[in-house]
Order: sequence, then structure tokens, then C-alpha cells
Amino acid sequence: MNFDWDQLVDAATKAMRNAYAPYSKFPVGAAGRTTDGRFVTGCNVENAAYGVALCAECGMISQLVLSGGGRLTHFVAVNGEGEVLMPCGRCRQLLWEHGGPELEVLTKAGVKRMDEVLPDAFGADDLA
Ligand code: THU
Repeated sequence: MNFDWDQLVDAATKAMRNAYAPYSKFPVGAAGRTTDGRFVTGCNVENAAYGVALCAECGMISQLVLSGGGRLTHFVAVNGEGEVLMPCGRCRQLLWEHGGPELEVLTKAGVKRMDEVLPDAFGADDLA
């Protein structure tokens, strides 16, 4: 499939502009596309208790579930310059849960599958 990554980067960049990041001053935006063609987005939301900060991906996953669920097919995160950013370790686990091994992730090194971004992942199958 010839996916329009620019459109997803634009959605993530737009979300990043709403970030609440007064402590790190490192705004992040995240955007994903779902199997039914929806776009879901999120921005990071920090807290005076630093460890409570919510990553942009947390907001995006909340929107995914709230807006009807489904699976993620494509994902990108961006920094304050709108440049592609790799998701943190915890957020890779969130992406795994809702996208699985085939989720396509835009990285600085091009498009990668989620099972390249989080190899040998722990997931729901391990609980069976
Ligand atoms: N951050 C995200 O929102 N997502 C990531 O994948 C990496 C880090 C945020 C958390 C914090 O608000 C700021 O970036 C600096 O770490």
C-alpha cells in the first residue's frame, strides 16, 4: 500500500503544538492510522510531579480506545521541530498492544515494522 506518511506527520505535528511540556520544554506529537481509516493523535502532558508525565502516545492510545478501538496500522511521533522521533520504551509496549508486529512505524531510518522496533516483545499471547 502506498501510504501517505506526510499526512500522518502533519497530524502528529499539529497535535505536538498542543503539548503541555513546561518542564522538559520538549513537546511531542503522536499520530496513528487505524484499520478503518481513522486518524488518532496525542500530545505529551507533563506534571509538576515529573514522573506523572503522560507521553504523547498515551493520549493517542486513549483516543484510539475512546473513539471506537480497532488496530493501528501506521504510527509516527514527532519532536518540537516536527521531526520524526522514536517512541520511548514504555510507549513501544503500548503500540505493540494496539498494533502488533505488523504495525508500520516511521523512523529516522525509514519505515520499520513494530517487531523490529520492539523485538521479542511481551504481549497478550504470553498471558494465554
Ligand atoms: N515523550 C513522549 O511524549 N513520547 C516519547 O515517546 C518520548 C518522550 C515526552 C515525555 C516528556 O514529556 C518529554 O517527552 C521529555 O522526555
